[in-house]
Amino acid sequence: PYPHYDHLRNLNPVFYIPEWNSLFVTGHPENAALLRDPRVSVERLGASAEDLKRDEFLPVNALYHMMLFRDPPNHTRLRSLVNQAFTPRVVSEMRVLIETQVDEILDRVALQGKMEVLDELAGPLPVTVILKMLGLNPQDAEHFKRWSESIAVLLDGGAESTILMPRIMQDVVEMNSYFRQIADDLRERPRPGLMTALATAELAGDKLSNEELLSNAILLLVAGHETTTNLIASGLHALLEHPEQLAALREHPELMDGAVEELLRYVSPVQATSRVLKTDMEVGGQQVKAGTQLQLMLAAANRDPRVFSHPEQLDVRRDASKHLAFAAGHHYCLGASLARMEARVVFEKLLQRFDTLEMLQQDISYRLNFTLRGLKELHVGVR
Ligand code: HEM
Repeated sequence: PYPHYDHLRNLNPVFYIPEWNSLFVTGHPENAALLRDPRVSVERLGASAEDLKRDEFLPVNALYHMMLFRDPPNHTRLRSLVNQAFTPRVVSEMRVLIETQVDEILDRVALQGKMEVLDELAGPLPVTVILKMLGLNPQDAEHFKRWSESIAVLLDGGAESTILMPRIMQDVVEMNSYFRQIADDLRERPRPGLMTALATAELAGDKLSNEELLSNAILLLVAGHETTTNLIASGLHALLEHPEQLAALREHPELMDGAVEELLRYVSPVQATSRVLKTDMEVGGQQVKAGTQLQLMLAAANRDPRVFSHPEQLDVRRDASKHLAFAAGHHYCLGASLARMEARVVFEKLLQRFDTLEMLQQDISYRLNFTLRGLKELHVGVR
C-alpha cells in the first residue's frame, strides 16, 4: 500500500473524497493533530440505544461499550477504571511468563531447525499472555483465536465483514456467553487475574457494569492479540529482508528498544483508524462539515518524509519515537508497554539463541485485512 499512501500524501496530506464524505489523512503532523483534537469523535458505530436492543445489532453491542468507541467523559471513566486493573506493575509481572513462553517455543524450534512464525511463535505468544493476564484458561486459546479473528474482520468493516457476517454473529454470540458466564460469578467468586481486577475496580464508588466489563475484556483480548502477532511476524520479516540491520542489532543489543520503535513505525500493525467530525471545521485548509468521516492512515503518517528522513528505509538506529503506530491522544494504545515487552523478548531471544536466521520462502502474501495488516505465513530457518 505504501506507494499509494505516498501518492495520496503528495496530492494532499488531507485528501477529501466527496463520494464517501471522507477525508483520507496521510500526513504525520495532520494525523497527530487530529488524533488530539477534541472536535474529532471516535463515536462512529452509528447505532442508537434502540438499535442495540435488536438481535442483528449483537456484534455492534459487543463493541459499543469498548473505551475505543467512546469519547470523554465516558472514555475517561472507562479507561480510568480499566487502568485500576491494567497497571504498570501487572504488565511488568508478565515479563517472566513471556520469557518462559518464548524459551519453550524456541526450544522446540531449535530441534526442528525451522518454524512457521505465525503458527508457532507470533500467533500463540500474545494470546497466551493475554489469557494468562485475564486469568482465563489457556486451553481456550483456540476459541479466542477464532473469535478475535472475527472481531478483527468486524472492526475492519470492509467487504469481508459483510460476506462473513453469519460467522461473525455466531462467534460473537459464543464469545458473549463465554464472558458473561465468567462475569456473572466473578464478583462473588473472584479468581486471580485481570478479569477479577476489572470486575472489582472502583473509582469513587463507581464500577464497570457487566456490559462494560464484557466489552472491555473483549477489547483487551482482541486489541492485544492480532496487533502484537503482526508486530512480531512482520517485524521479523523486515529484519530478515535487511540483514545489515539484523547484524547491527546482533552486535549492539542496546539498540533493541529503539529497534522495536523503528519496527512499529516500519510495519505499522494497525494501518489506519477512523473518526468522525463533531462540528464543521477546517482541516488541512479545507472547510468540512460535521459528520465527515476521517480515515487516519497511521501507516502513511509513519512514512511521512517531513518527519522521518528516507522513511522507506528500515534503520534500527534512527529515532522513530514520533511514530503513530500506537496512535496518540486519549486513545493512545493502553497495551503499548506490554506489546513492546513481548516484541523485545522475542527478538532478543531469537538473536541470542540462533546465529543464523533465514527466510525459507520466496514470496510473501498478506491477509485480507486492511486495518490490521499482517502476513499469511512466514517460514524461517534457524541454526
Ligand atoms: C488502542 C495499536 C497492542 C490494548 C490502540 C490504538 C492503536 C493500537 C493504534 C488506538 C486506536 C484508535 O485510536 O482508534 C496497537 C499495536 C499493538 C497493540 C500496534 C501491538 C503491536 C495492544 C495490547 C493491548 C492493547 C497488547 C492490551 C493487552 C489496547 C486498548 C486500546 C488500544 C485497550 C484502546 C485504548 C483507548 O481507547 O483508550 N492500540 N496496540 N493494545 N490498544 Fe493497542
